[in-house]
Amino acid sequence: MVRIIDDAFYVIRTICQLHICYVASTYEVFIRAGVLVIRLAAGEPDFNTPSVIVEVGINAICEGHTWYTPNAGLLDVCSPSDEVIIPGPFYVSYPEMARMADANPVIVETSLNNNFLLYPKVLESKLNEKSRVLILCSPSNPTGSVYPRKLMEEIAKIVAKHPRLLVLSDEIYEHIVYASTTHISLLLLCLECEREH
Ligand SMILES: Cc1ncc(COP(=O)(O)O)c(C=O)c1O
Repeated sequence: MVRIIDDAFYVIRTICQLHICYVASTYEVFIRAGVLVIRLAAGEPDFNTPSVIVEVGINAICEGHTWYTPNAGLLDVCSPSDEVIIPGPFYVSYPEMARMADANPVIVETSLNNNFLLYPKVLESKLNEKSRVLILCSPSNPTGSVYPRKLMEEIAKIVAKHPRLLVLSDEIYEHIVYASTTHISLLLLCLECEREH
């Protein structure tokens, strides 16, 4: 019983430490004090939800689409002391997500010189028998980097050599690409390769 309560407190403490919530609540204080704040924390637009989206949402609820979607994630795939590889700079919640799954976040720093991209040799040097998940975010928040096809292919090849390693491919910003580049989905890339071979 004590263990359960301890675990619950650990989870609550962890969630409370999600930095994004802290930043979002802090800037509200500044805004109320009349300070001009440019919000770059939570991914929230500065306009109301367009009516066409509101309508689709209401219709979906009326049609009974109110149940949980599949939510298997890190909690389901990680065991204690597994490692979750996170290229940095990273979206702030990733390490907490790993910790909540009892896994260890392994931050692999990237640099401006490499466009904040994770290079194959660096990835390979971090892989071991504990490596369970690689979190890849492209287009990336916060760096804006987009993995080019060739680099994505090289990463896919390395992942294929490590059967225990899963990739959590965060493509949430697939439609927000500013430079003359194209978003490459790791999953689609792998499916393409499978079809060709
Ligand atoms: C890269 C990235 N992944 C995931 C999320 C979280 O998405 P959700 O709103 O579905 O929790 C965010 C939110 O800012 C994000 O920037």
